[in-house]
Amino acid sequence: MPVTTPPMLTIALTKGRILQETLPLLAAADIRPAEDIGKSRKLQFETNHKQVRLLVLRGIDVPTYVQFGAADLGVAGKDTLMEHGGDGLYEPIDLKIARCRLMTASIAGAPAKSGRIKVATKYVNIAKHYYAARGRQVDVIKLYGAMELAPLLDLADEIVDIVDTGNTLRANGLEPREHIADISSRLIVNKAAMKTKHRQIETVLNAVAAAL
Ligand code: PRP
Repeated sequence: MPVTTPPMLTIALTKGRILQETLPLLAAADIRPAEDIGKSRKLQFETNHKQVRLLVLRGIDVPTYVQFGAADLGVAGKDTLMEHGGDGLYEPIDLKIARCRLMTASIAGAPAKSGRIKVATKYVNIAKHYYAARGRQVDVIKLYGAMELAPLLDLADEIVDIVDTGNTLRANGLEPREHIADISSRLIVNKAAMKTKHRQIETVLNAVAAAL
């Protein structure tokens, strides 16, 4: 009888703080990179399982890799999943890591501006949806970082950003205003892979769920 090798399973990880919290979870599920990810410029890593490899990506790209099947599984923040929209993905496990809040923020003590306002954020889709749902007229300005500067330099009236300790807002004279969503990292799965690699993916999902 021919021996069939199981297909390769590719897991896309989010680099940075989420990665630091993801690796111990994967280790508890017996998935370990074959070398120290922190000491390498490589973007792809073999693991202790011949058929499992890891990708290390910018968070915003993880849902895209998984949506189109370039990765079978991924770890992404709920903020990036909300911004992406979730097409082509299942989101079966809340990993409860990298927890924070998605908030609006503005200059501390400044009165709320009425009428049309400018909102700076990297979460353009979330911001448009959030303000539209409240009947607020906004011009959304896309930024890629240092959002906190925008209200100080009158580029925007408000920002939409992640708040964890609140230190970054405070250090820049801003204050959180409206709570948009609680955020944590999620394990995501490509919808087609869930069928074609069901047994392998289920093994990983069960191991991660048990490790939580
Ligand atoms: C995030 C966010 C804030 C900061 C909030 O940035 O954009 O700047 O963390 O955390 P705090 O409330 O504990 O101060 P991050 O450092 O993740 O970098 P980024 O701008 O690349 O997302």
